Amino acid sequence: MTTATARAHTNIALIKYWGKKDAALMLPYTSSVSLTLADFYTDTTVTFDADLTEDRFELDGRSQPTTKISAFLDQVRALAGTKAYAQVASANHVPTAAGLASSASAYAALALAASSAAGLNLTPRALSRLARRGSGSATRSIFGGLAIWHRGTDDASSYAEALPATTLPLRMLVVMVDAGPKPIGSRQLMANTVATSPYYPAWVEHNEAAAQAMVQALAANDFSKIGELTEESSAQMHAAILASHPAFTYFQPATIEVWHAVQAMREAGLPAYATMDAGPNVKILTLAPYVAAVKAALPAGLTVTTTAAGPAARLL
Ligand code: DP6
Repeated sequence: MTTATARAHTNIALIKYWGKKDAALMLPYTSSVSLTLADFYTDTTVTFDADLTEDRFELDGRSQPTTKISAFLDQVRALAGTKAYAQVASANHVPTAAGLASSASAYAALALAASSAAGLNLTPRALSRLARRGSGSATRSIFGGLAIWHRGTDDASSYAEALPATTLPLRMLVVMVDAGPKPIGSRQLMANTVATSPYYPAWVEHNEAAAQAMVQALAANDFSKIGELTEESSAQMHAAILASHPAFTYFQPATIEVWHAVQAMREAGLPAYATMDAGPNVKILTLAPYVAAVKAALPAGLTVTTTAAGPAARLL
């Protein structure tokens, strides 16, 4: 029996990933840039056990279906040259109240724990490529702070890497609009956006240029440029989604209300920018000195969690 436990933090894309060029290899149409978050993470223990007759998976103490996990573990077994099944136990430290997805932290933690338990000592780049096979956004969660996922052209060239740390005291406020289940998951909706949205080709062209512009803006510590690029990548992703067949949006009235509040904050001189993912909740990018003022300018009655840059995935 060989076992390992890993912790990986979730991340929020400043420049979004939305759409796969190759669904089997999980190659994206565009590069993306993200901030790994301090307060939200997944702990996963993997034990390969020659006596098991199938894989087992428990999340927060409850037994779960193993189809996706087993497909992922098959990649690890192939790399390590083993046939042993595994017991996987995960605990999510992503408060339900934050309304954040956990597939990024989940597959990054699983990649590190499973590869270590299988006796592999993968480089961060190889881990990132492995995590990608579980969930696209997990590619970036191997790294702490700021990361870029290079879209690449094949399995070997599609990986994330850490970007130089900015001197800016970045903060992310997660504004809960609705904690309920999503009407449609990101994997299915991104495939439909690629297949049916007439705006998708424009999204690819603009977002790839935005990823490169973001790298420049981060290197220059230019917060207003970083914020503008962040808000625009999200808006353009949601525009491509809205234009799909059938037309759809994750936005709820409160999503728009919070976004308008963020725009009003900027008019009042506060550096704050909104970004939305595959759900109605809003994340606000700002700087540490302005957190209190941003919170005070939000509509009343919403749960807000403030967090900062978090660390890379690591063994516990
Ligand atoms: C809107 O990584 O959850 O959060 O690759 O199908 O597992 P799969 O999708 P997932 O999609 C994330 C989409 C996003 C943007 C982003 O994180 O870049």
